[in-house]
Amino acid sequence: MSDVNVIDGIDYGPLAALVGTWKGDKGVDKAPEPDGEEKNLYYETIIYEAIGDVDNAETQNLAVLRYHQVVSRKSNDEVFHNETGYWMWDAATGTVMQSLSIPRGVALLAGGSVTEFDTSKEIVLEVKATAGETTFGIVQQPFMEKNAKTLSFCHTVSVEGDKMVYSESTMLDIYNKEYDHTDRNRLTRVVG
Ligand code: HEM
Repeated sequence: MSDVNVIDGIDYGPLAALVGTWKGDKGVDKAPEPDGEEKNLYYETIIYEAIGDVDNAETQNLAVLRYHQVVSRKSNDEVFHNETGYWMWDAATGTVMQSLSIPRGVALLAGGSVTEFDTSKEIVLEVKATAGETTFGIVQQPFMEKNAKTLSFCHTVSVEGDKMVYSESTMLDIYNKEYDHTDRNRLTRVVG
């Protein structure tokens, strides 16, 4: 256990690198349109809070961060994406998980593994979820399942000190085609 990852007596492993308030204004979103796609430049705030640990079946112990991401279009300053969820760390297996919910009626649980990390250097988290899977999977309301189905989700986050870069690929089945809805941004920690 590295002390640098311990907050209030709990070891958050690689997730310790995320804790704080982050802001970034270099966001690029590519989203589907009936006749093609739209590209949106954006800025955002993401807050990650260390909220403690949980025990499952008196065996598994997870350290947990809760997060909230609020994204605004540069062109009109309107919030156009609002997402909340948890990141979880299972030190025993080196498993990292992200659960998220967006107010379109879509929620998912993505997972990945982190075998080696050093939070004093760069840490990289990569998690994936796939529709139809019962473990790292996706659930969606009937309208979305029928008309704008999320097929898969892949999210990579790299943190080095107070700098973060992320990229997301959300595969959609919408407007009778498969579409790779992507988002990426660079953020700076403004509150530790
Ligand atoms: C920074 C992150 C994201 C931004 C800025 C963003 C933005 C957008 C935009 C602009 C659209 C086009 C429709 C509209 O204008 O409302 C869209 C559609 C959609 N997004 Fe995202 N999105 C993000 C992340 C996600 C994630 C993580 C998921 C799910 C895992 C997701 C699922 C969807 C779905 C299912 C649609 C299709 C709905 C439609 O176009 O009618 N998005 N998103």
